[in-house]
Amino acid sequence: MTKVFKEHNNRKIANQYAEYVTGEAFRKYVAGKVKQYVGDNPSVFDGAVGSGQLEWLVEPRHVYGVEIQSASCEVFKENYGDKAHVYNQSFFDFEEVVLADCVIMNPPFSLMFKDLSDHEKAVIQKEFPWKKSGKIDDMFVLKSLKHSKRYGFYILFPGVGYRGTERKFRELIGNQLAELNLVQNGFEDTSIDVLFIVVDKEKTGKTCQREIYDCKSGSQLLVDSWGIDTDNWEQPRIEAEKEVIDIDFVNQELDRIVLDRLQKHLESQLLVIRYFGADIDYLGFISKAYDILANYEVQYNLGG
Ligand SMILES: C[S@@+](CC[C@H](N)C(=O)[O-])C[C@H]1O[C@@H](n2cnc3c(N)ncnc32)[C@H](O)[C@@H]1O
Repeated sequence: MTKVFKEHNNRKIANQYAEYVTGEAFRKYVAGKVKQYVGDNPSVFDGAVGSGQLEWLVEPRHVYGVEIQSASCEVFKENYGDKAHVYNQSFFDFEEVVLADCVIMNPPFSLMFKDLSDHEKAVIQKEFPWKKSGKIDDMFVLKSLKHSKRYGFYILFPGVGYRGTERKFRELIGNQLAELNLVQNGFEDTSIDVLFIVVDKEKTGKTCQREIYDCKSGSQLLVDSWGIDTDNWEQPRIEAEKEVIDIDFVNQELDRIVLDRLQKHLESQLLVIRYFGADIDYLGFISKAYDILANYEVQYNLGG
């Protein structure tokens, strides 16, 4: 594809539908993951397709896109021409039978179930009867998975990984979670870190890969393997290096400071006596210092 990609991102409308622009580096990262799992030029389903920016570098054979904003749908069609199959409606009113090689989605963050129409609620509850309230990030994922032959790639608000209301969602994904990644600096219009998950409908193994990817520097900051826990999709974290305190060294330094101070005091007092004839009870001070030392020497020996 050589033509320039067009975006539709009117911030006022975008806020209403929780739309954020994924930066170039993030799109590359997503395209790399899709290539790794699904190969070149897959057909793609996206239930919140916007203008299709997320799929651009994937170079899909076809994109089946559902999108609620008609202006975005128009730009999506311009971008993909006859590769675009567009459905201008809410994803929760969408009941077509479409099966693509994979799903790629950046669903809107934290929209509320209570704000959906009665029809949208009914469509959701037909399939997920337990869903009665809360946010609908989880519904975008679960409902879209049936439009993928095997893999799903999702950019998600981190809350889906730990919120109690999304526990059922994490349980249903279960061991199908192939990757749980934290992506930093991925958006042009917000600095929030997000989850990027890979779901493999055929995976049964109990561990998944995690990584931290920073889009600003284009680098992978951490990669590990993690035992899936549906209570909490624990985000990968870089452990802060613990400062090792050498207690012997600290004690020696303290001793040195105190002795230095004592020596300097004795030296300066002696100087004042010698050169200025000051009337100072020098020996009285030394005697008191001896007393203190002797006292603690005795206490130490008794303790020993
Ligand atoms: C975070 S943006 C995704 C942008 C998109 N990935 C792109 O490449 O342009 C979320 C999109 O979901 C759309 N949206 C919000 N509610 C929706 C719904 N119920 N059904 C379908 N799309 C919806 C918004 O209009 C917005 O375009």
